[in-house]
Amino acid sequence: MKIGFGSDHGGIDLKLQLMEALAEEGYSCFDYGSFEGERVDYPDYAKKIGLALRAKDIDLGLLFCGTGIGISIAANKIPGVYCANVSEEFSARMAKEHNNANCLALGGRTLGRELALSIVRTFLEAEFQGDRHKKRLDKIKKMEDTTWEK
Ligand code: RB5
Repeated sequence: MKIGFGSDHGGIDLKLQLMEALAEEGYSCFDYGSFEGERVDYPDYAKKIGLALRAKDIDLGLLFCGTGIGISIAANKIPGVYCANVSEEFSARMAKEHNNANCLALGGRTLGRELALSIVRTFLEAEFQGDRHKKRLDKIKKMEDTTWEK
């Protein structure tokens, strides 16, 4: 399992903490920036992770900004990225079981290390349930392929 990590300055500390913990647990972890804690724009890092997901360079994206909101909105603009902004375990489990998300967005200013780790572990241990959920995901896929302009 290859996990790509991306953050802005609001999420970098939590990103580094989770990357260290998950690497210790045996996951292959790749840091797509930001790196220095300088003020940056979260769409740039959502894009890096989105492109890595599309290229299948990674199996899962973990994105971090102050709240997880902006970076998830940006990531979900990239076709093939299904990013869930979650802040507790139940939603993390649903994000896998029902939504088959391939990316999680977490808030560096809203979550502590232990809760964030528990959220990610819950997601990693869950399995997509298919069936009726698959039909709904197919509809989302169709929306990606639609030209919305008149
Ligand atoms: C950056 O200050 C902040 O706006 C960003 O990290 C994020 O919370 C946006 O959703």
